[in-house]
Amino acid sequence: MTITKICCIGAGYVGGPTCSVIAMQCPHIKVTVVDISKHRIAQWNSDKLPIYEPGLDNIVKQRRNVNLFFSNDVENAIKEADLVFISVNTPTKTFGVGKGRAADLTHVENCARIIAQVSTSNKIIVEKSTVPVRAAESILKILSANHKPNVKFQVLSNPEFLSEGVAVENLLNADRVLIGHEETADGFWAFKELSKVYLNWIPEEKILRTNTWSSELTKLAANAFLAQRISSINSMATICEETGADISEVARGIGLDSRIGSKFLQASVGFGGSCFTKDLLNLVYICEHLNIMQVAMYWQQVLDMNDYQKSRFSNKIIESLFNTVTGKKITMFGFAFKKDTGDTRESPAIHVAKTLLDEGAKLNIYDPKVEHEQIQRDLTHPYVTENPEAVMKSIEIHNDPYYATINTHAIVICTEWDEFIELDYKQIYRGMIKPAFIFDGRKILNHDNLTKIGFQVHTIGRR
Ligand code: NAD
Ligand code: UGA
Repeated sequence: MTITKICCIGAGYVGGPTCSVIAMQCPHIKVTVVDISKHRIAQWNSDKLPIYEPGLDNIVKQRRNVNLFFSNDVENAIKEADLVFISVNTPTKTFGVGKGRAADLTHVENCARIIAQVSTSNKIIVEKSTVPVRAAESILKILSANHKPNVKFQVLSNPEFLSEGVAVENLLNADRVLIGHEETADGFWAFKELSKVYLNWIPEEKILRTNTWSSELTKLAANAFLAQRISSINSMATICEETGADISEVARGIGLDSRIGSKFLQASVGFGGSCFTKDLLNLVYICEHLNIMQVAMYWQQVLDMNDYQKSRFSNKIIESLFNTVTGKKITMFGFAFKKDTGDTRESPAIHVAKTLLDEGAKLNIYDPKVEHEQIQRDLTHPYVTENPEAVMKSIEIHNDPYYATINTHAIVICTEWDEFIELDYKQIYRGMIKPAFIFDGRKILNHDNLTKIGFQVHTIGRR
């Protein structure tokens, strides 16, 4: 079998960009991305894509309705495909056993059931969603118990390592493509077939072959290690603030050790995003389940440190503003969990906003890419407030960063958007209530210049 038709179930942050890049690099393959959400598919078929990713618009424009299709017709797309990616969300369970920790595999299981039900030819099923170790076994069991006569499936694990904001670049120049397969001749054959797709643009030496379980665990391990670096540097930032050391200097000093490396050592208000917290919780749950409690506690600490960091930053704002923010107007610059994305899932900005709102502050919020409705949804969510009407009265969402700062007491930088570096802070200072404060939660501004202008500057990892 040569793969000529691919179906991807899940048109989200992973399915959309990944399949757009496959369609661009493999013009001979028809790629259909399907989703149960009518709204999401309509957006993928419109001029305004549902997600913002630099470079993605261009690719979609080039390939859409050529060899890249977005559709709600899940059944037909599966039926005609040689290979099916499962790229659906795997959120943390909100109910039952493992609530608040284990991954909820309902969507993955639904995919397996529908694949078994509609498939009339052999297929390679690729688990792209991030899942607990041995999830592929459950998928295979469901497929085996429900398939039509003479239809065979091979299940591969091919986790995704892209980062939002640089997804296209990551997909085009992946550090590695990891494929885990069943240790049988058929498993090896399926690995070869998926490799052929990637070999259209990924060098062979970057395609890594492992067994299925190693592949699944590698994904969780990679996110755990990355998150651990951020919590480690943030823990050092705390020491810096108490001692007069500067975290930027410490990060540079340790990052030049080639065994440590310089990436992912940026102290911050804390990590956010849809995956680090969820995947770490999942890892901790797996360890607890395996009764290796010391390991569970070790990784739990990475999460605890992140919560500590977010709280520390929010509390610092309140303390610096003379221990009360009640009735004070505060500008939040940035609401996305990192720059170059409109995604707010688990954004540290939500935590900061919640703390300030709980204390009675009024917030002016500006983010260049996050939709206003999304900010409203996030801040009126039951997790944030029991009184959504009061929150709506306490927030103003702005389209202009300068306007957002007028008559406010403080600016809080929550996302490291490049445009915040270029703003005219002299002009901003003139319009603010004095003393005017800046809390740089991303360490992106020139603090000496801001101090010269007259700002009271507070940041992370420096006194
Ligand atoms: P997402 O929520 O953006 O997209 C998932 C999509 O799947 C949604 O549009 C949903 O409607 C759809 N879906 C759910 N069940 C379905 C079904 N039965 N049939 C058809 N469609 C269905 O999620 P995402 O951010 O793309 O993440 C997907 C997976 O990839 C997760 O497991 C995540 O951990 C992993 N991952 C995400 C990233 C990232 O940067 N977001 C990176 C690497 C891995
Ligand atoms: C992360 C991983 O980097 C990807 O490899 C992985 O595929 C993905 O999770 C996933 O599984 O979902 P992502 O969450 O998109 O990607 O973005 P990151 O660049 O990792 O940033 C995550 C958070 O950490 C952001 O809030 C960011 O601001 C913060 N961060 C990052 C820091 O605070 N300091 C750093 O040095 C780096």
